[in-house]
Amino acid sequence: MSAPLLAARWPLGLALLATTAAAQAGNCQLSIEANDLMQFNARALQIDPDCKDVQLTLKHVGKQPAHVIGHDWVLARSSDVAALSNAGIAAGLEHGFVPQSDRRVIASTRVVGGGEETTVTFSAALLVPGVDYTYFCSYPGHSTFMRGRLIQADKTKLATNR
Ligand code: CO
Repeated sequence: MSAPLLAARWPLGLALLATTAAAQAGNCQLSIEANDLMQFNARALQIDPDCKDVQLTLKHVGKQPAHVIGHDWVLARSSDVAALSNAGIAAGLEHGFVPQSDRRVIASTRVVGGGEETTVTFSAALLVPGVDYTYFCSYPGHSTFMRGRLIQADKTKLATNR
C-alpha cells in the first residue's frame, strides 16, 4: 500500500470514530429531575442498545431538604419494585431507603434534597433483553407517583435479526 493512499484513509477513519462516540454518549447518559411535588419529569427513559455503561444523573429541582422530601433513583425489574420498595422502607434513611447487598437492585443513587444532584453508573450488561425494567424513588410513599420505565431501544429487534 502506498503512503499517499494510507494517509488519505486516516481522516475518514477518525471521522467515523468521532461520530460513533458522539452518538453513544447521547444515548448512554441519562438525566432526570425530581421536584417537591413528588414527581419525576420523565415517565420513561431510553438507552441505546450498544451502551456498555449507562450514567444516570438525578437532579432535585425543589427546595425541600432530603429528610422531608428526598428523592433517589433506583432501577429494578418491574416485577421486583413492590417488594423492593417495602424492603427499602425497612432499610431506613441511613441506608438511603435501599436494602443493602440486595441483588434485585440494579442501580441506585443516594437520596438528595432540593438543589442537589447525584449520579450513578451501571453496566448495561445487567439488563436482560425482553425483561421489563422500572425506575422509582424509594423514599417512603414516593414510588406510587415517582416511577417510569427504562427502555433499551430496538434491543428485541436487533436480537431477532442476529
Ligand atoms: Co422521591
